[in-house]
Amino acid sequence: RYLSTLNISGKDYVSDDLTNIRQSISSHVGRNVYLLPNHPISILNSLIHSHFGPTYTVVPPKSPIVTPEQNFDSLSFPPDHPGRRASDSYYINRQWMLRTHTSAHEVEVFAEGHKRWLFTADVYRRDEIDASHHPVFHQMEGARLWSNTEISSLVEENRQLETELSRQDILIEDLTTIGQSNPIQPCHDEMLARSISTNLKLSINGLLLKLFGTEGNGPLKVRWIDAYFPFTSPSYEVEVFYQGKWLEILGSGVVAQSTLNKAGIKSEAGWAFGLGLERIAMVLFQIPDIRLFWTTDERFLQQFQPGLVTSFKPYSKYPPVTHDVSFWLPVVHEGKAPFHENDFCDIVRDIAGELVEDVKLIDNFAHPQTGRMSHCYRIQYRSMGRTLRQEEANLITQDIKNQLITMFSVESRG
Ligand code: PHE
Repeated sequence: RYLSTLNISGKDYVSDDLTNIRQSISSHVGRNVYLLPNHPISILNSLIHSHFGPTYTVVPPKSPIVTPEQNFDSLSFPPDHPGRRASDSYYINRQWMLRTHTSAHEVEVFAEGHKRWLFTADVYRRDEIDASHHPVFHQMEGARLWSNTEISSLVEENRQLETELSRQDILIEDLTTIGQSNPIQPCHDEMLARSISTNLKLSINGLLLKLFGTEGNGPLKVRWIDAYFPFTSPSYEVEVFYQGKWLEILGSGVVAQSTLNKAGIKSEAGWAFGLGLERIAMVLFQIPDIRLFWTTDERFLQQFQPGLVTSFKPYSKYPPVTHDVSFWLPVVHEGKAPFHENDFCDIVRDIAGELVEDVKLIDNFAHPQTGRMSHCYRIQYRSMGRTLRQEEANLITQDIKNQLITMFSVESRG
């Protein structure tokens, strides 16, 4: 049940054929958990602010309701980019959507005149359901620009930053191929693009050492790799080896001149990055389930204090309830979007809310004679605060099945 008129932060929006927002999503708008002083996201956010220091402006909050022009076009996303699909993004209607990343505000913030800035916000993406995915999460965007006249000081600053990074504490593997498959923009000379990239890498390496460097045994392993974003070139991703796994930290690169042009900035150049806060907070605070960031249970928030990274002590884990849901997909009609796994996940989220812990496609086959497709999903429910009753889970699953039948004309398989 998509909402037919949406009231989001006190404003009414009329739905249309693109609308795919349900109550379970719109209810997150305005919660602003990242502004609660003892929330882990807020603690991490402040820690990053303090690394960059007072020369960086912390840009005040902006509404998550943006236009596709802000979220995509202003950043040179091509018209057929997969991120624009209704299966991946939340649309209020054809005119408005929920931002999928903090980059949606790059042009705006550059146009406001900020040269060094950090901006944190809630972002919205349709995705799978498990302990590390939530359709609403937080990103921080950071950027720094240099004017033509400031560029001369950049090489010296980089040399300084280089000496400050202790090579005993950090092991950097730089696999980037700037200038080759990761092109420098035609308007930049090679020295400039390289110096900006070096400054970005040094600034972020310093941050990573501050966040992860306290684990002890041996230097922190950091890996820089090539990436692609329509709004940076060259582009990079960085990963950190932490608690036995490579963890994706952020996307970044040299800001596209097209972005700066839209902000009315002609003779400046610089870098930008966008990092996801939840994944980092989960490992630093040892938070086992991403849903906990949205809980109002005092036993969660009570555990944390501003300025301190402390391990979460799980309160008792209640037993899960697992149900399988099998159905035949309708025959696909030409011009009609086929059923997407995210459609299933959104229905489950809408009906089960924060009681759903995990959804997996466990079987997917085509009937040998008719060619019709069948899907079987395993849904795991669990409450973070009490024992979930069987009857309650049964009602939720029945409701999910009914919704699937009415919205997607699927045929239940018992
Ligand atoms: N917005 C990008 C994302 O969400 C990250 C990014 C930000 C990349 C800034 C480059 C520059 O994946």
